[in-house]
Amino acid sequence: MIELYTYPDFVAKYYDLIYEELRNPVDYNFYLKKIFETNGSILEIGVGTGRLFCDALGKRKDIYGIDLSPAMIERLKEKISSKDYFRVKVQDSRNFQLNKKFDLIVAPFRVFSHLITLDDQLSTLDRINYHLVEGGEFIFDVFNPDLSLLAKPMDLNLDTEIDLKEGGYLKRYVTAKPDQISQINWLKMKYVLTKNSVVQEETFEFPMRYYFRYELENLIALSKLKLKKVLGGFNNEPLDNNTKDFVLICEK
Ligand SMILES: C[S@@+](CC[C@H](N)C(=O)[O-])C[C@H]1O[C@@H](n2cnc3c(N)ncnc32)[C@H](O)[C@@H]1O
Repeated sequence: MIELYTYPDFVAKYYDLIYEELRNPVDYNFYLKKIFETNGSILEIGVGTGRLFCDALGKRKDIYGIDLSPAMIERLKEKISSKDYFRVKVQDSRNFQLNKKFDLIVAPFRVFSHLITLDDQLSTLDRINYHLVEGGEFIFDVFNPDLSLLAKPMDLNLDTEIDLKEGGYLKRYVTAKPDQISQINWLKMKYVLTKNSVVQEETFEFPMRYYFRYELENLIALSKLKLKKVLGGFNNEPLDNNTKDFVLICEK
């Protein structure tokens, strides 16, 4: 098994500030609706800082979460009561083991793009299948690669600017180097924090695996799960040339 990249503490620290603005408008209602419609237990794989998990738990859903990155789980735990700590664990999707079966398993916001090899993807699907009840659903999304972005590297694009409540200013710059043979986009995210004229910089470099439509369909066909639907977004859009996200709904 290859070693995967964990999110460092500075990424975990600013994750909610950045993605509540960038990602909530895209997928929040879709996943929360699926979670609220589920009678029974739910597992979020790659639960992160609990962007979706905390609101589901707040509405008394029986939800659990695993994540590879200890820094992300630490941030999540700061947001929930200690009586619920048993619900979240640092575990790897490729070999996780929980003493429970779930009616719904979700892996929101490109968790699968962190899985680089076919072995890693299939072992994750195998663990998911094992942890689902008969008829249970697995829902995940990955981005539909933008071919114009894959054609050449992108250098230092400023993608986020935030005024921090505690004072100071955060800017995030992204560099992307695509590799068409391994289907990996190497991303470098540079966080530049300016406070009282002092500038601090931290960088996180990691690979994002990109998938094409039929590759995803074949991947699920290789697993024990059944593919019910591939949507072209979080509002039930069909697939078309404007599709930014593939949303896959699978069933045990
Ligand atoms: C973009 S974040 C999404 C977090 C959360 N699901 C959300 O929607 O905000 C991706 C998360 O997947 C986690 N992750 C990556 N590879 C993983 C693996 N093999 N097993 C479990 N979690 C993983 C990362 O640590 C990170 O927290």
